[in-house]
Amino acid sequence: MKKLFFAAFFALIFAACGNRHNASEMELLIDRNMQLAIEQYKYMSTLLPPDRLPMSYENGEFKTSGTGWWCSGFYPGTLWYLYEYSGDEQLLAEAIRSTELLEKEQYNTRTHDLGFMLFCSYGHAYRLTGNPAYKEVIMTGSESLSSRYNHTIGAIRSWDFGTWQFPVIIDNMMNLEMLTWATRESRNPRFHEIAVTHADKTLANHFRPDASSYHVIDYDRESGERVGAHTWQGYSDDSSWARGQAWGLYGYTMMSRETGDRAYLDHARRIADFMLGHPNMPDDLIPYWDFNAPDIPDTSRDASAAAVTASALVELSSLANEPRYLDAARTIVKTLSTPTYLAEAGTNGGFILKQSVGAMPFNSEVDVPLTYADYYFVEAMMRLRGL
Ligand code: GLY
Repeated sequence: MKKLFFAAFFALIFAACGNRHNASEMELLIDRNMQLAIEQYKYMSTLLPPDRLPMSYENGEFKTSGTGWWCSGFYPGTLWYLYEYSGDEQLLAEAIRSTELLEKEQYNTRTHDLGFMLFCSYGHAYRLTGNPAYKEVIMTGSESLSSRYNHTIGAIRSWDFGTWQFPVIIDNMMNLEMLTWATRESRNPRFHEIAVTHADKTLANHFRPDASSYHVIDYDRESGERVGAHTWQGYSDDSSWARGQAWGLYGYTMMSRETGDRAYLDHARRIADFMLGHPNMPDDLIPYWDFNAPDIPDTSRDASAAAVTASALVELSSLANEPRYLDAARTIVKTLSTPTYLAEAGTNGGFILKQSVGAMPFNSEVDVPLTYADYYFVEAMMRLRGL
């Protein structure tokens, strides 16, 4: 009995030391990556014309956008995280400058991407500075986003182009966090109600029995019924576009945190299990751009989908109290830290990660750096540090 006790005692000590060892290895890796990220973003800021935001770096050309592009909030957002990590005043100045470039987008009612644009920029700006002017921008932006909500359908309209009646894309789950925040800050329940109704409608209509999701669902404007299920950036209507799965995973994990609703948590777990258990998911957990791409393994991986997934899994592991999601997140971060994905300092137009896919069907932004890959990679590492 005594022997058994000592054996168990030493096994516990060794296990604890092993975990500490792994944890500190991860901490070192994250610190190294964050230092590189700081160096890269300082370099990127020297390439950026004063009124533009970064988009990508392709064939040696640094590509930029105006503030109306759906990705305009990711550069300031990444800078806010890097400032939060380092306290570096140069990063703070650039974070403020680039955030304030987006001010007019608070009035933009022509896009559903205001959550990406304003909450990733002004959201962090307000969280880290408490500047009330920033809060006003997010509140106005939440009004603008809510103007796209349709009561009959119970969802926010995604796009104004195309031949659909009322298209809603899975990506739109990501814009809901700004609305739950807006209700908390204003005590106006309407924003929260819109977010929950949209999430419920999406849960009912975007998902297949195996928890994979369609990209675009089209609704009848009169009846509110689903009339079509399509893709835009995926391989086919019935395939599982990797970043779409990641947006869904992140979206329902976030909504579970924001509402405490068990149904969202269970759904996020089902999406995670679909992705992590998919036969086409590589062991290093960087997915191909579409889980059903016909030319797997001779096709592109998508680092952006991996980064979004890693960040979501860190949060999901805490909410679900499930260490295997944390292990998966760590695997993704480790893989993204290898030379295949991680840029060398002073290269890649200052982006941190290489090898993302924007829209394969349009042969647009294939195997290139993208701002949202960087943003969610840095967020994943901040979340891992915060554990
Ligand atoms: N929201 C657009 C994309 O994920 O490419």
